[in-house]
Amino acid sequence: MLKVINVVGARPNFMKVAPIVAAMKKRPARFLPLVVHTGQHYDAAMSDSFFRDLELPEPDTHLGVGSASHAAQTAAVIERFEPVVLLEKPDWVLVVGDVNSTIACALVCVKLGIKVAHVEAGLRSRDRTMPEEINRLLTDQIADLLFTPSPDADENLMAEGIPRERIRFVGNVMIDSLQKNLAAARKLPTQEQLGLRGVDYALLTLHRPSNVDMRESFERILGALEAIATKLPIVFPVHPRTRKTIAELGLSERVDAIKQLRTIDPLGYLDFLNLSSNARLVLTDSGGIQEETTALGIPCLTLRENTERPITVELGTNVIVGTDTAKIIAAANTALNGPAKKAARQPPLWDGQASERILDALEEFAGAPSSR
Ligand code: UD1
Repeated sequence: MLKVINVVGARPNFMKVAPIVAAMKKRPARFLPLVVHTGQHYDAAMSDSFFRDLELPEPDTHLGVGSASHAAQTAAVIERFEPVVLLEKPDWVLVVGDVNSTIACALVCVKLGIKVAHVEAGLRSRDRTMPEEINRLLTDQIADLLFTPSPDADENLMAEGIPRERIRFVGNVMIDSLQKNLAAARKLPTQEQLGLRGVDYALLTLHRPSNVDMRESFERILGALEAIATKLPIVFPVHPRTRKTIAELGLSERVDAIKQLRTIDPLGYLDFLNLSSNARLVLTDSGGIQEETTALGIPCLTLRENTERPITVELGTNVIVGTDTAKIIAAANTALNGPAKKAARQPPLWDGQASERILDALEEFAGAPSSR
C-alpha cells in the first residue's frame, strides 16, 4: 500500500489533483491518498467551489497559509507542511503545476528524504521574471520523478541535465478533468444566466502580475478590449488580484465604460468550462486555459509575450499575441473571421488517461532508491 500526500494550494491545482486522487481511490488495495491544502487560495470562489465541482475529497489537512508576499507565503507553507510529512510518513508526496505551494512542499520532502513526484514537469517559458518559471525550474531539479505533459517538456528537462530515468511522459492531467466533466458542464444554465445562449461571445481572463499589476500593460490590453467589445460581448470573470489592481490603478471607470464588457465574479470549474467550450474566442494570460482551449478546439489568444506550453501553438488553437493594443485587435479580427471551431490536432497523450499512467509509474518507482 502506497500512502501518497497530494498537495493542492491554488486554483489551477485542483483540476490536476482531482483525477489523480479519483484514480487512486479506484485502486484501494494499492493506494492510500491523502489531500493536503496549503490554503494559498482560500476564497469560496477560488477554492471551495472547485472541491465541489471536481468531487475532490475534503482536505485531510488544511495549512491555512493565505495570501502574503512570495517569501512569506512560501516560508509559511514550508514551516506548516513539514510536521504533516513527519507525522504521516508518506511513500510519495505529489505536487502539481508551478505555484508557490509546489516548490515549498517539494523542498520540505527533499530535506526529509521523502520521495516527491512533480506533475506537469518540464514546462519552460524561459522568462525568469515570471514567478512560476522559478518554481518550475527549482521543483524539477529536486523532485525524484517528473511527469511531463508533452514531449517538449522531456527535452527541456534533459537539456537541464536531469537523468532520463527520472522523466515520464504521461500526458496532461488537466485533460483528464476536462474529458470527465465536459458533458456535465455543458448541461449547466451558465450561458442562459448571463444572457449568452445563442450569442457569439468572447471569454476573458487576466491575472498575471506582468499584465494586471502594471498600468502600462493593463491599459494596452484595455485599449484592445474597447475595440473588440464593439464586435461581440466579452465575459470577464475577474480574479481577486485583478479586481484589487483595477481599483488601485484607478482603472474602474475605464473598465466600467466598456459597454459590452461584462465583469463577473470568478467562476467555478464547471461554469467556466460551460462558457469556454462555447466561446467564439478566448483571450487569456492563464497557462491552463491555453491547454483547455486546444483540447476544445476554441480559438485562443494568449496575452503574454511567451508561453511555457508551446505545443498549444504548434498543434492547438493558441496564438501568442503579447500585450500590444494593435496586435491584439488584429489577432482578434483574424480569429473572428476564421472558423468558430478549429479542428485542432490533439497533442499526444492528452487522452484522459494521464492519471492512470501516473499511478502506474508511482507503483513502479516506489521500490526504487531515492534519486539523491
Ligand atoms: C497564483 C499563482 C499563479 C496562478 C494563480 C491562479 C504563484 C506564484 N502564483 O497567483 O501561478 O496562475 O494563482 O489563480 O503561486 N486572493 C484572494 N483570494 C484568494 C486568493 C488570492 O482575494 O483565494 C487575492 C489576494 O489579495 C492575493 C492576490 O489575490 O494577494 C494574489 O493571490 P496569490 O495567491 O498571491 O497569487 P495569484 O495571482 O492568485
